[in-house]
Amino acid sequence: TTAPLIDPFARAISYLRVSVTDRCDFRCVYCMAENMTFLPKKELLTLEELDRMCSAFVRMGVQKLRITGGEPLVRRDILTFFRAMSRHLDSGALKELTLTTNGSQLARFAGELYDAGVRRVNVSLDTLDEKKFADITRWGRLPQVLEGIDAAQAAGLKVKINAVALKGFNEDELFTLADWCASRDMDLTFIEVMPMGDLGNEDRLDQYWSLKDLRARLAERFTLTDLAERTGGPARYVRLEETGQKIGFITPLTHNFCESCNRVRLTCTGELYMCLGQEDMADLRAPLRASADDAVLEDAIRAAIARKPKGHDFDYSRQKVAGQVSRHMSHTGG
Ligand code: GTP
Ligand code: 5AD
Ligand code: SF4
Repeated sequence: TTAPLIDPFARAISYLRVSVTDRCDFRCVYCMAENMTFLPKKELLTLEELDRMCSAFVRMGVQKLRITGGEPLVRRDILTFFRAMSRHLDSGALKELTLTTNGSQLARFAGELYDAGVRRVNVSLDTLDEKKFADITRWGRLPQVLEGIDAAQAAGLKVKINAVALKGFNEDELFTLADWCASRDMDLTFIEVMPMGDLGNEDRLDQYWSLKDLRARLAERFTLTDLAERTGGPARYVRLEETGQKIGFITPLTHNFCESCNRVRLTCTGELYMCLGQEDMADLRAPLRASADDAVLEDAIRAAIARKPKGHDFDYSRQKVAGQVSRHMSHTGG
């Protein structure tokens, strides 16, 4: 191991999110355009290159690795990569190897993920209505995802559901989603929709459902207790006293959590984004390919971390979208 990664605001970087593909079998409306042009395969880091890259971060103090996409499980042979990363779990350097998925391929991969050391998966699911699900994902099949979730739980994986809170879309499903997750012993996290990509962000204003509001709605039916515990990500949790259920809130808009940011994002082409809400990125593919000496890569990583900004500038107050970034959410997998 080498010296840990500390950014200019004294935040230690211990969490790496790795997008292994820009492709996805769905097209969630807030994440991708309907007609995406995907990267040619030759632009992608190979699985061996991803391994070298992630291993460098682990040596530099990263303890949590989250694999994202697009949809990570559509990348060819991705289980080989998970199995390779599990050696860092075995050595104790890595505390958690996990992924965020749309669930569509979980029925096929849940068992192998567990065998590779994954213990927890976050599944994105905004609605339990088949028709609405097909609309928001543009063509996704809800039963396929539900089968995936069943398979994940049967394989011993702990499942957390991520739902983007959307006014006029899933407002009416707040309690349905909560009850469904409770009945299956799954945590649930709501996310405020962020203005990313060229997706008609002015519509985001109409769709934006603040989690302050959502929380107040929950409080009409339940007694909420704030919990101190964190999962290493940005979510803050409450417990519903009547049922014991835990619900998470990710609130980039109503409660900025940037001051405790501990993460950076690597894309499938080796770009490192130091912040989800800023355009700046560092190309790590060039130094990776320029030399077999990992010291070159480590220097490039340190130089990138030294540029990590204070935070995002997303804002919808004053009835306008501000701080928008031009790349789609799928570019970095959230
Ligand atoms: P846990 O390990 O379960 O805490 O996961 P996580 O919340 O770190 O990861 P997940 O992939 O489930 O992300 C959920 C949502 O949080 C996504 O919409 C992400 O875009 C958002 N998110 C994660 N990190 C950040 C961040 O640094 N800034 C902002 N604004 N949003 C983030
Ligand atoms: N705002 C908030 N969350 C988003 N996600 C995708 N696009 C957006 C957006 N514009 C969520 C997905 C997934 C996670 C990785 O990011 O639903 O749960
Ligand atoms: Fe695919 Fe996830 Fe983006 Fe939906 S949010 S289009 S499932 S990557």
